[in-house]
Amino acid sequence: MTLNSNQKTEKKKRETFSTGLAVFFATLGSAVGLGNIWKFPYLTGNSGGGAFVFTYLICILLVGIPVMVAEFYIGRKTRKNAVGAFTALKASPFWKIIGYMGAAASLFIMFFYSSVAGWVYSYVFKALTGKFGALAKKPVEEAVKTAGEEFSLTVGGTYSPVLWQFIVIAVVSAILIAGVQKGIERVTKTLMPLLFLLIIICDIRAITLPKASQGLQFLFNVDFSKINAPVILTALGLAFFKLSLGMGTMITYGSYFTEESNLMTTSARVAVSDTIVSLLSGIAIFPVVFEFGMKPGGGPGLLFQTIPLAFSRMPLGNLLLIAFFLLAAIAATTAMISMLEVPIAILTEEKGMGRTNAVLLISSVVFIIGAVTVHPESIFGGVTLLGKGFFDLFDYISSNILLPVGGLLISVFAGYFVSKSELCKELSNNGIIKNKSLINIYHFVVKFVTPILLIIVFLSSIGIIKLK
Ligand code: PFF
Repeated sequence: MTLNSNQKTEKKKRETFSTGLAVFFATLGSAVGLGNIWKFPYLTGNSGGGAFVFTYLICILLVGIPVMVAEFYIGRKTRKNAVGAFTALKASPFWKIIGYMGAAASLFIMFFYSSVAGWVYSYVFKALTGKFGALAKKPVEEAVKTAGEEFSLTVGGTYSPVLWQFIVIAVVSAILIAGVQKGIERVTKTLMPLLFLLIIICDIRAITLPKASQGLQFLFNVDFSKINAPVILTALGLAFFKLSLGMGTMITYGSYFTEESNLMTTSARVAVSDTIVSLLSGIAIFPVVFEFGMKPGGGPGLLFQTIPLAFSRMPLGNLLLIAFFLLAAIAATTAMISMLEVPIAILTEEKGMGRTNAVLLISSVVFIIGAVTVHPESIFGGVTLLGKGFFDLFDYISSNILLPVGGLLISVFAGYFVSKSELCKELSNNGIIKNKSLINIYHFVVKFVTPILLIIVFLSSIGIIKLK
């Protein structure tokens, strides 16, 4: 983020993003990541296609956007981290739990996210060394098998996945220590449009495949009978994960917004753009799945098996493959930076720790715990708890418990513990933006719709009420 000299000399003495566009791209840089190109397609594949996509869109609209606006409000109003913000608002100390739970969620997500980012980094390397060239020459069945084997090799080795995870964490830490937030602003501004372009190239490739329509039907045909409690909980968890919500990331980013930023339109624009990237990723992947006779419910390997296959059979395929995974790696990196900013801002601003020490401490914890748990060959790789391996367990605890509980607390705080006039003042930038009726609708949704929906989903997921 660029230091804006006017704001620098202002009383708040805090960095801000330089312009409205920078605010948009930096926030989108946090939202867009592995969630769009890796998690969205594989969860859609596992959870029944169009029905899941439909449920997800509803979650974005009724839960995601309202919670994002509330986080922006808390951040920009106080210009503080996710714990300090509640002190600044003179709220009861209880609310600081949002920040502490957010810091815990950040670690839980990082344990497995950095490992998946390691797979992406290693695919850049594999593409650069021409590993996927052979796929083009093989008959379809053999090529599918080879792509699957390549993925198993990436995930399964004793040392190599740990080494790639280490490289990822080292890169993220170096950027965080250098504090090159200026760099983040610049990187996200050029990267996002480029990533968009490449996904569209993948889409064109995918929808011109003979069996493309089967893939598109799978993605967009809504079979309402498939919507049940687990599908809703998964879609809700994904909405939080996707938009980096419920853990204070958007409180922290909101604290860097300019006074002129329109909180409601920024959040709508980020949510819509992010969702478009996810849908475009689905359009790139599912036609390939059906074309090559793969299973839509193939799990976390879906992205890594389909994209090399699709690209290997088109002109300039290897070059496009390198570019795709490189951009995916950068998108994952900017998302991780925003994720770690939550505990780091708490340690530096609340506990007075130096930035370098805070980064080193958090990164070491992430690496040590991540390395011994999430890989199949690692020390605790084979251990299961509550019927899940650590990789899935960390994902479940963060996406399905910590983020939605954080989101519930944030919406209750904004709906019940902030006066409507106060909210109105901040969301209209002190009356400059004339959006009174929109604010009224927002206030109603954040007070009643969002928390009630969240409570219903929770109660049904622990079996207290039965949705279906
Ligand atoms: N939104 C990111 C993605 O979809 O890949 C993941 C993420 C980033 C989650 C930052 C949470 C967060 F604080």
